[in-house]
Amino acid sequence: MSHDLFEAARGAMAFAHAPYSKFPVGAAIRAEDGKVYTGANIENLSFPQGWCAEPTAIGAMIMGGAKKIVEMAVIAEKLPLCPPCGGCRQKISEFASKETKIYLCDEAGVKKTMTMEELLPFSFETELG
Ligand code: THU
Repeated sequence: MSHDLFEAARGAMAFAHAPYSKFPVGAAIRAEDGKVYTGANIENLSFPQGWCAEPTAIGAMIMGGAKKIVEMAVIAEKLPLCPPCGGCRQKISEFASKETKIYLCDEAGVKKTMTMEELLPFSFETELG
C-alpha cells in the first residue's frame, strides 16, 4: 500500500529544518525488511552544507540495518509532485532497482508513480556496481 508511505513522508516533512528556503520536503522508504524509514531536508546557515530529505531517509534505512529500497514516497508542501533532485536520484539508485517505484505526492496522496528507470534513465553504471 502506497498510502501509508505517503502518510509517513508527510509526517516526516513536519521535521524539516528549512528556515532558509522555507521549502520543507519529506521522504519515506519501505525497505526489504518491511520497515518504513523517513527523512526530511536539513538545511544549514552555510547553504551548501544542507541536504535533501531523501538522503536523510536513506541514512535512517542504512542505520536501521536495511539495504534495499522497495518503494519510496516524496512530498513537498509547496510543490505537488516534487521530483527528487538529480543528486538524490543517484543516491536513491544506489539502493534501488530499475523497477523500484517512486511515489510523487501532493497534500492528498500519491499523484504520480514512476520507476527508478524512468526517473534516472541511462544511469551511471560501472563494473563496480
Ligand atoms: N530538496 C529536497 O529535500 N529534496 C529534493 O529532491 C529537492 C530539494 C530540498 C533541498 C532544500 O532544503 C529545499 O528542498 C529547497 O531546494
